[in-house]
Amino acid sequence: MGGSITFRGAELVLPGGVEAGDLVIEDGRIAAIGAGVAPRGEVVDARGLALLPGVIDPQVHFREPGPTHKEDLATGSAAAAAGGVTAFLEMPNTDPPTTSRTALEDKLRRAAGRATAHYGFFLGATPDNFDEVAAARDVPGIKIFMGSSTGTLLVDDEAALDRHFAVARVPIAVHAEDEARLRERKRLLTAPDPALHPVIRDEEAALIATRRAIALAERHRRRLHVLHLSTAEEADLLRRRPRDGLVTSETLPQFLFLDARLYATLGTRLQMNPPVREARHGEALWAALLDGTIDCLATDHAPHTLEEKARPYGEAPSGMPGVETSLPLMLDAVSQGRCTLRHIARWMCEGPARCYGLVGKGRLEVGYDGDVTLVDLKRARVVRGDELFTKVKWSPFEGWTLRGWPVMTVLRGRPVFRDGAIVEGVFGEPLHFASLSQD
Ligand code: DOR
Repeated sequence: MGGSITFRGAELVLPGGVEAGDLVIEDGRIAAIGAGVAPRGEVVDARGLALLPGVIDPQVHFREPGPTHKEDLATGSAAAAAGGVTAFLEMPNTDPPTTSRTALEDKLRRAAGRATAHYGFFLGATPDNFDEVAAARDVPGIKIFMGSSTGTLLVDDEAALDRHFAVARVPIAVHAEDEARLRERKRLLTAPDPALHPVIRDEEAALIATRRAIALAERHRRRLHVLHLSTAEEADLLRRRPRDGLVTSETLPQFLFLDARLYATLGTRLQMNPPVREARHGEALWAALLDGTIDCLATDHAPHTLEEKARPYGEAPSGMPGVETSLPLMLDAVSQGRCTLRHIARWMCEGPARCYGLVGKGRLEVGYDGDVTLVDLKRARVVRGDELFTKVKWSPFEGWTLRGWPVMTVLRGRPVFRDGAIVEGVFGEPLHFASLSQD
């Protein structure tokens, strides 16, 4: 059951544009939008603040079950709520990996009454779990690691890939790096230098795999989502495709705001898969977001402890936290004139909801769920790892001053984050996914 709350005089980021007005959530649903509408529940004076649909992060790693010393569903979702994120889609490279209905149900049980955001869990593909993939329903999708990364999941055999695409009835989300090329290029690891990371895991490795995934999606007419797009070349490839809704994609703030020069100072903290690359890729990814080629933004929140990240390159794990800083980074980009609040709603709310068929989410519209994020575009704050909610307490954006922060995060009409703290006793619900015409 949801709560009731009224926001007075906010800049409302509506599907058709930004307008000053009131928004009423009643029993967990958006009940009225306009000027002077009858209030319900607590009345929040939101003058001078902007109200966005709750941010949906479509790619996080919250580490439970398994290496919960890095994160767990409670701490990861608290970090999400503090970052204005009201729903997350979590990846299957846990321990054990989420490769069966039983493992999915275990995660859903663990999240109930502990996750402070709404939740959905991907089913992971293995070289032979075709029956699980064929039977998967009411999940965001099937995750396929086409190249190896953190964890044990990998499907690089062409016949197995083909069969997964043939049998899946839900969207397929791919980590697109070509395993054969990654293996072959490991010979370039001649020194423990993290700047070699984007050389070894190069643009071509990403492009080969993305091309292969698109060919499979087209052959089987299956919905494909390309995760964490990292190269200008992949963006060009997607731009040339017909916009038929068959293939969608996302990119990450890491790729928009960081580039390869930072290996010199951040070292292995910057190491992730696919890698942070030269600045030309970031520029191309911004352009591809702005022209609608890329559908949405995720964070790929992939926490590892500072001790783990301090190992030399070649031994340090790949990945960095980000669920808490993505919205502030994008709000800061609004302050700097790089994008607008409407772009944020498109890339971080409507886009993920559309790509995964999230029912009732992603828009400020009467009848939609009352998941909203109130933000202060004037508030400047320095990113400090020790102030973050993530268990690993660090950020690649340490020391950056960002202008624009969430001040209240609301789940179905109930504030879950306000005044810098998580509200006790408010939890997310399992997400539901419309079937996306997979015959
Ligand atoms: O850098 C990464 N870290 N890329 C992935 O694909 C997985 C992730 C993790 O789970 O640590």
